[in-house]
Amino acid sequence: MKPFVDFYSANEIAPVRQDISDRQRHFQRRIALYRHLGIPTALIAGRSVIEFGPGAGHNAIVTASFKPARYLLVDGNPASLKATREILAQERAQNCEVVSSYIEEFKSDERFDIVLCEGVIPFQIDPGAFARHVAGFAKPGGIVVVTCIDGISFLGESTRRLLADTLVPFKAPPAERLSQLRTVFEPHLKTLKGMSRLVDDWMYDNILVPYSGNLFSLKDAIEALSDANDVYGVSPHFFTDWRWYKDVWGDQSRYNERGIGEYLTNILNLADYRVMMESQPPEKGGRVLRKAEALFLQMRGMENAGNLEGLDSAVSLVREIADEINPVSDLTGKSLREVAAAIEQRGNANLSVALPNFQSFFGRGQQYVSFIRRA
Ligand SMILES: C[S@@+](CC[C@H](N)C(=O)[O-])C[C@H]1O[C@@H](n2cnc3c(N)ncnc32)[C@H](O)[C@@H]1O
Repeated sequence: MKPFVDFYSANEIAPVRQDISDRQRHFQRRIALYRHLGIPTALIAGRSVIEFGPGAGHNAIVTASFKPARYLLVDGNPASLKATREILAQERAQNCEVVSSYIEEFKSDERFDIVLCEGVIPFQIDPGAFARHVAGFAKPGGIVVVTCIDGISFLGESTRRLLADTLVPFKAPPAERLSQLRTVFEPHLKTLKGMSRLVDDWMYDNILVPYSGNLFSLKDAIEALSDANDVYGVSPHFFTDWRWYKDVWGDQSRYNERGIGEYLTNILNLADYRVMMESQPPEKGGRVLRKAEALFLQMRGMENAGNLEGLDSAVSLVREIADEINPVSDLTGKSLREVAAAIEQRGNANLSVALPNFQSFFGRGQQYVSFIRRA
């Protein structure tokens, strides 16, 4: 069982297309992302880059435009490989090679200045081992970029999936679910001004794709890679370090330990992009994270079993999370309570009136994190 690839191949899709008709905006956004990760474009020019899981290649054309000396792209889904090859050819991108391989089976003695793996590791069966494999292709002193999704940043999706499961059974054919659920979720997506993803692709990739694998939090990523890598940048860009640089050496560097601390104190902000919440004690962040992870597992279990047994405990978890977050963000608490009430009605909720706060509730998306591979 290969997460993503089996589902994409079976449905002959690469559901990560973006509307890049405003090319300048697309390029500027990618540059902004690289900036958060500590990668100015001059750091890509003339360097070697490997990208795992380029999807439809829309992001790869931006990386290629910075003229790496070598750009190797690895994907295991035929539709992704085709789309990536086509778009790179259209752009007349130089020095690119697209190879077909499962990522975890990819082998090479070559080491790269930059390793990119975006939107691939969360939901793999063993995300930590997957990340270590990928990071191993970086040269000493090179940069590794991975993405993370944790239970809190996924609350918008976990709750939408639960709602979807009460409306159209998870085991119904994906195309049928898509046509019935599009009308429910399209208005939600329309509230997102910066959205460049196509609606159906978002649906495939967030609501319809089955999950056999696991979440991968920023803490999981740091812990998985800390033996050979130090955390460097993050997007959203919430790491701060007020230490005098002369105090940052040897065992005192503690980049990874500090990164986990910053993450746990800021984590509630991943839940709801509409609000900025005050930093919280890391114990609170950790407690909400565990509940949100439990919610994901409950949802995954029900979907894979093909029934709604356990829906009541999922609803209780949503309410517990709402109670935890409510003192810090009333809007987030209200939104979660609304969706809990709608899920509880098992398909009988009047969704057009029931979700005024929830419909624009989305997390801050996946988190990107860069690491420097220790020399
Ligand atoms: C969700 S898409 C992300 C695409 C792109 N990086 C982006 O962020 O828009 C995941 C991509 O990784 C590929 N992929 C996922 N797991 C893989 C695996 N185990 N081996 C090879 N390719 C994989 C999928 O085929 C798909 O193209």
